[in-house]
Amino acid sequence: MDPKTFEELREFIYKKSGIFFEKSKEYLLTNRLRKRLKELNLSSFEEYLRYLKSPKGTQELGPLFDAITINETYFFRHIRQIEAFRDVMVPELLKKKRSINVWSAACSTGEEPYTLVIALMEKYGQNIPARILASDISNEVLEKAKEGIYGEYSVKELSPDMKRKYFDSMGLGKYKIKDFVKRKVVFKNINLLDPALARKVGKMDVIFCRNVLIYFDNNARQKVIETFYNDILNPGGYLVLGATESISRLNTKFKLCHFKMAIAYQKPE
Ligand SMILES: C[S@@+](CC[C@H](N)C(=O)[O-])C[C@H]1O[C@@H](n2cnc3c(N)ncnc32)[C@H](O)[C@@H]1O
Repeated sequence: MDPKTFEELREFIYKKSGIFFEKSKEYLLTNRLRKRLKELNLSSFEEYLRYLKSPKGTQELGPLFDAITINETYFFRHIRQIEAFRDVMVPELLKKKRSINVWSAACSTGEEPYTLVIALMEKYGQNIPARILASDISNEVLEKAKEGIYGEYSVKELSPDMKRKYFDSMGLGKYKIKDFVKRKVVFKNINLLDPALARKVGKMDVIFCRNVLIYFDNNARQKVIETFYNDILNPGGYLVLGATESISRLNTKFKLCHFKMAIAYQKPE
């Protein structure tokens, strides 16, 4: 890809999704989009960019997001955060209301929201005191999440007992999430940079936004965090980021909370 096309393409992607490709990640972008060019019968990235910017280009945004996003995830990723959610945040929030709203804001193939359901079912039984919304920018991962079929990698942190309880084994290392878990999650396609984000999501008590802001630059991060704080989180609500992420460099009124080997950010009452 010539340098000018790379610059324009990354600017286009950044404006639409917040995802920012450093110059050193140009090879990644090229590799991921090459297949798409072939499918569209286009012979250069310049042509692809022109297509994206044309009136027909809006229909290409979905496949573009499918191609460029990194969807790594697994059940019970960073279990200390899940324990802090189940044992501290949820019981505290339930002192004020009978049911809470939880949002998995970049849910990928569904392991994260289903983990939250399973964690709550372990404590409260099948009738969990929470509604779970899960969203992502990529339709491809959302379809997989709704299907709910997983390989060994996704369930690597689960004991055989937990697998039996919450999955139907399909043989050949495939596991299907049971319907009573699946039914608890509503999946939607939501872009974290959508100006109508707050209206699409509504009010939340806990937001899991793990391992997605790492692909954004500070401007996009700040924008998303501000919307969470000002428009989506209820007072007393929590924001959980990836275990290695921090928003300490951003300008926010969130209060940092420490749990057993995990942190989260709380909107003061
Ligand atoms: C690495 S996965 C994280 C999955 C899960 N939260 C976890 O921590 O295991 C990052 C996800 O963020 C999604 N994503 C990237 N940009 C997004 C945006 N602007 N809005 C919503 N989701 C986005 C990607 O499609 C991808 O599925």
